[in-house]
Amino acid sequence: MPSSEVGVNLEQARAWDGSEGANWTDNEDWYNAAVRYLTPALFSSAAIEPAEHVLDIGCGTGETTRMAAREAASGATFGIDLSRGMIERARRRAAEEGLRNIRFERGDAQVYPFEPGRFDVAVSRNGTMFFDDPVNAFANIANALKPGGSVVMLCWRELARNEWVRELRAALAAGRDLPEPPPHAPSPFALANPERVRAILTAAGFDHVQCDSVEQPIYFGPDAATAFAGVTKLGIVNGLLADVDDVSRRGALERLRDTLGNHETAEGVLFDSSAWIVRATKALKGEES
Ligand SMILES: C[S@@+](CC[C@H](N)C(=O)[O-])C[C@H]1O[C@@H](n2cnc3c(N)ncnc32)[C@H](O)[C@@H]1O
Repeated sequence: MPSSEVGVNLEQARAWDGSEGANWTDNEDWYNAAVRYLTPALFSSAAIEPAEHVLDIGCGTGETTRMAAREAASGATFGIDLSRGMIERARRRAAEEGLRNIRFERGDAQVYPFEPGRFDVAVSRNGTMFFDDPVNAFANIANALKPGGSVVMLCWRELARNEWVRELRAALAAGRDLPEPPPHAPSPFALANPERVRAILTAAGFDHVQCDSVEQPIYFGPDAATAFAGVTKLGIVNGLLADVDDVSRRGALERLRDTLGNHETAEGVLFDSSAWIVRATKALKGEES
């Protein structure tokens, strides 16, 4: 059922099932490559077993669902996302790779009627920071897990620890004092505070909540020109350029080119980044957390 019919996450559904989802689908390879050094930590923490049933929350075009499907070779994987376009692309890619233990649905993970107790593990690569009611969303995910099942997710730590976003903002500030994103609103940084993450997950029915940091570079492409083409499609960059006049915009884009050029290395355009691997277990009834 479209999320707009159940009245949750309307803004996110509009963006991801609209222009932001189209942008991600068109630039699928660039987005997948950007987090290539962060992704292995998600999978080593999830430690998916061959017979397991895996849920991928906010799976986008499904790279991580396909990775999970290869690990759960005799099990099954299910990817859910708000974006119809990304889900169509995910289905096509899985078919091209001949994966049969994989299924995708367009839906809102906060309210989707998952079969209770179906999954051993729920994973997510940057797909769980956009819920308008995170406690209800994670309670819905807990209900989809077997007793003792786990949620394992990659999510950004705070902006100040992420050189990539700090430097993009500095390049594009155009003389303005930029506001920080509100810490509790749906945004890439909504799960940056581990105390808040613990409180949300505990209230949603999880225990043994663990936040382990991953410090790995983010990769913007082999050279500054590819990096420029990619980052100028980022929602965060377009948001910062939305209200500036043409002259300031040209200046900001020049500074952005310089910033990306300064980060060109033999391994491509790299910036420091910092994320959490959040891991939690569905609480067994009656167990102390
Ligand atoms: C930053 S993208 C990450 C996509 C994908 N996990 C990846 O790593 O390429 C965030 C994704 O979360 C999805 N998303 C956001 N809120 C969601 C919700 N409530 N239910 C399902 N998907 C959601 C978006 O549609 C988008 O595809």
